[in-house]
Amino acid sequence: MPQLLVVETSPRGDSSISRHLTRRFVAEWQTAHPDGQIVHRDLMETNLAFVNAPWLQAYFTPPEQHSLEMKAELALSDELVGELLATEHLVIATPVYNYNVPAVLKAWVDHIVRKRITWAWTAAAS
Ligand SMILES: Cc1cc2nc3c(=O)[nH]c(=O)nc-3n(C[C@H](O)[C@H](O)[C@H](O)COP(=O)(O)O)c2cc1C
Repeated sequence: MPQLLVVETSPRGDSSISRHLTRRFVAEWQTAHPDGQIVHRDLMETNLAFVNAPWLQAYFTPPEQHSLEMKAELALSDELVGELLATEHLVIATPVYNYNVPAVLKAWVDHIVRKRITWAWTAAAS
């Protein structure tokens, strides 16, 4: 079953242009994938923390050595990574804020880029 992950970032609710565009995209996607499954990840409701020292300590510790506290640090990141790895299609709806993506979207990127899980150096990249 095809899956679409929808990442929303605008704080403007029903007034949001990016959210309206996403709705139109999702409607088209559903027409093209009638048996598809849609997962919504609203970053305005996700309570994403910025990367800090305890998070980095957990990130750089091999998983088999994770303490309970380290597992807790990475729990949300694990959840977000799971959503990304499970999906075939991804749509990210975002405003432009000061010539960049909103901070919450950059925070999501920091949480989903996980060494040996979502990225790795390969021969082609070196
Ligand atoms: C704090 C802030 C910064 C913005 N910076 C830019 C910008 O650098 N470039 C731009 O084209 N639009 C900028 N905008 C306009 C938004 O990208 C635009 O209003 C967009 O529709 C907002 O998305 P939304 O309707 O989904 O919330 C900015 C808006 C805000 C509130």
